[in-house]
Amino acid sequence: MSDKVVLAYSGGLDTSVAVKWLKEKYGLDVIALTIDVGNERDFSAVRQKALKVGAVKALVIDAKDLFVKYFVFPALQADALYEGQYPLATALSRPLMAKLMVDTALAEGATAVAHGCTGKGNDQVRFDVGVNALAPDLKIIAPAREWGMTREETIGYAQKHDIPVPITVSSPYSIDECLWGRAIECGVLEDPWVEPPDDVFTWTKSPDQAPDKPRYVEIGFEKGIPITLDGQKLDGVNLIQRLNELAGKHGVGRIDHIENRLVGIKSREIYEAPAAMVLLQAHQALEAMTLSKDQLRFKQKVAVECADLVYNGLWFSQLNRDLSAYVLSSQRYVSGTVRLKLFKGSSSVVGRKSLHSLYNLSLATYDKGDQFDQSASVGFIHLWGLPVKIQAQVQLLGDKEGPLSIMGTKEPEEG
Ligand code: ARG
Repeated sequence: MSDKVVLAYSGGLDTSVAVKWLKEKYGLDVIALTIDVGNERDFSAVRQKALKVGAVKALVIDAKDLFVKYFVFPALQADALYEGQYPLATALSRPLMAKLMVDTALAEGATAVAHGCTGKGNDQVRFDVGVNALAPDLKIIAPAREWGMTREETIGYAQKHDIPVPITVSSPYSIDECLWGRAIECGVLEDPWVEPPDDVFTWTKSPDQAPDKPRYVEIGFEKGIPITLDGQKLDGVNLIQRLNELAGKHGVGRIDHIENRLVGIKSREIYEAPAAMVLLQAHQALEAMTLSKDQLRFKQKVAVECADLVYNGLWFSQLNRDLSAYVLSSQRYVSGTVRLKLFKGSSSVVGRKSLHSLYNLSLATYDKGDQFDQSASVGFIHLWGLPVKIQAQVQLLGDKEGPLSIMGTKEPEEG
């Protein structure tokens, strides 16, 4: 009997070719594992295809609920947005896939796991680091990183072995999808000067073709987790799916990012993430109202750390655990409702309310009912400005250029 390998199988060209290649090169029986994290796909067709191209077994796992509960919502609570732009859809799905690949390999008595990543991207790192953390004894094989075939050669290999080449191979793009967003790379997009052509987008309408009437949405949060959409209670998966549709129809959630990959290259990435962008925006608006200034400042730093850590494949690190504990604790009072206006490609927060709001009208108002003690400001400013005043007397006012030395009006020196 041959040893077994669990291959993360998407149904695309590379992983289909990998089924044959793993048998040819390593003599391994392939168990194809397809994981549904909200990619729009006919999973029974994918399963059939895996068997047709030679897998000894083909499994499909619906992981949408796990994905939302353990990966997407914690990332939302953290406000994780890589380099301020990318909501980390693909990046969040990889550690879950690694976990399910490991579980399946152990259950099936496989000696190895395999994935379809090339050697140039971040995903190989996320899979490999995840698998190594969870099951250090499993061998990891990445056929597309090893086989050294060009696209044309891969198609040739497929044809030679009677592996159906999907029509989508004619698409010049490399695409990855999950509930939290859609990533599109390659083709003309590799020229960062070229505007993404319309055929790149499938989840979002072009803003100029979006409805002429704005759509208002209300999102209800409890402890940083979205639980209602327009007053209706929905489970996480449904809420995200509906919001993807709704915001996508109004052209919201297109992202064009020159991104710093972990492996050292910059790449141009296009994303569609309507629900993710709206939810992140709404969540931050609610935090602005329910967290103190110091909490907000600190949390912004944590958000950057969390985003980098997810992007860089370190999900299973203890640092992630520590940061998650902080993030969770920070969400105790992040409950309430946010109202947004979706219109022609933009989404704006137009209202927010919370029982735990720190916004205090009698302190903020300029109308009657004002309870802010304006006379107290005099003493406050006296002490607040004291160090600046002392320093200016000793150092600034005696300076030949005076205040101008600080205002930076000096001409650059010649030569
Ligand atoms: N650049 C993104 C990331 O590293 C998206 C990767 C998408 N993967 C793909 N095979 N198209 O998370």
